[in-house]
Amino acid sequence: MARQKIVAGNWKMNLDRAAAVALTEGVAARRSEVPGVELVLCPPSLYVGTVGTALKLAGDTSPSGVWLGGQNMHDKPSGAFTGEVAPAMLTDMGCRYVILGHSERRTLFGETDAIVNAKAKAALAAGLVPIVCVGETLEEREAGKTQTVVTAQVRGSLAGLSPEDLAKVVIAYEPVWAIGTGKVATPEQAQEVHALIRSLLANLASPAVAADVTIQYGGSVKPDNAASLAAQPDIDGALVGGASLKAADFLGIAAAFNS
Ligand code: 13P
Repeated sequence: MARQKIVAGNWKMNLDRAAAVALTEGVAARRSEVPGVELVLCPPSLYVGTVGTALKLAGDTSPSGVWLGGQNMHDKPSGAFTGEVAPAMLTDMGCRYVILGHSERRTLFGETDAIVNAKAKAALAAGLVPIVCVGETLEEREAGKTQTVVTAQVRGSLAGLSPEDLAKVVIAYEPVWAIGTGKVATPEQAQEVHALIRSLLANLASPAVAADVTIQYGGSVKPDNAASLAAQPDIDGALVGGASLKAADFLGIAAAFNS
């Protein structure tokens, strides 16, 4: 199994229903331009069904070759959890992926590594591919703690996963200081952390598993900075926020990873 390039759009809490459909159709129409990249759209949960319909998802197939992902989920299968979404609800609506432990979930909604870990296990059990997000704050980077923080997040978020499950996981390295700020990490800064994450995966599973895991970079990725990130040996795709809201920008980023 070779390492898969994956570019995912995290729409966060943006767009209305009509704009979500238009963006989906805009991406699907040009999907064939980037055959070497898996494309994933992660709409707000209320629009997951709408986007799935626009993609004409049926069972486990996507005629457009564009896949659907959630932005978050609960770790329990059902119950009294007002406002939450269960893993099987995402698969029911055609999701193949789910973003877990995004820094906004960690900082604004109190998600700890233990919570992310429970969600990762639940996602895998439901047949979803978890996109597990990690990344340091500016304060942590300036204090020289990047490696310690990312190591703890990777180990904590993936604790107890079997090598078989680790092989199915996607990791997104998103330095918090680069998210929505226009301050992208330099390719060298990103590569250094990606290599660290891959070595942690080698430890947790095996070098062979680690070699095949997709590690995305996220944080102010744009069409004009994507190529230099894509050129790094351990950067296998992008988790895109702002630039994923325009089909042309999202596809421009995917094009950089399509080689
Ligand atoms: P931006 O691309 O807007 O910086 O957001 C990155 C992100 O948080 C993706 O999950």
